[in-house]
Amino acid sequence: MSNLSGRRIGMLSLYIAGSLLMTLLLVGSAGASTGQELFETNCAVCHGVDGNPILPNAPLFSKGERMEKSDEQLLVSLSEGRNVMPPWKGILNQDEMKQLLTYVRSLAE
Ligand code: HEC
Repeated sequence: MSNLSGRRIGMLSLYIAGSLLMTLLLVGSAGASTGQELFETNCAVCHGVDGNPILPNAPLFSKGERMEKSDEQLLVSLSEGRNVMPPWKGILNQDEMKQLLTYVRSLAE
């Protein structure tokens, strides 16, 4: 009997340690998202991984299209959305949007 409860406690601590580890890994990877990762996850469906748009009306980031606009203007477009593009506020925070803009600017040849 005592043997059994000992095993149970063992299993339980293993389970708790496992969940803690998973939580740490998840938090760690979320915090470490780069502009590129964010772009590939959220934006590439329309804008293409390399900035050559999949959606016909999306700007050609690979040619630097729209990059003449200021960060302030582009951040408004991102937050509020623009035509087909959905608003990103509430999904991405301000820091993530800035990281994304830096990445988008780097796609221009
Ligand atoms: C559903 C498709 C779609 C997704 C997803 C999408 N976009 Fe767009 N995006 C567009 C379209 C279409 C335009 C052109 C809008 C217009 O000016 O008519 C655009 C325009 C832009 C512009 C230029 C805005 C301006 O002021 O001219 C930027 C910068 C941009 N997108 C970045 C992003 C980023 C970063 C993401 C990911 C977080 C993203 N987009 C996700 C479709 C999309």
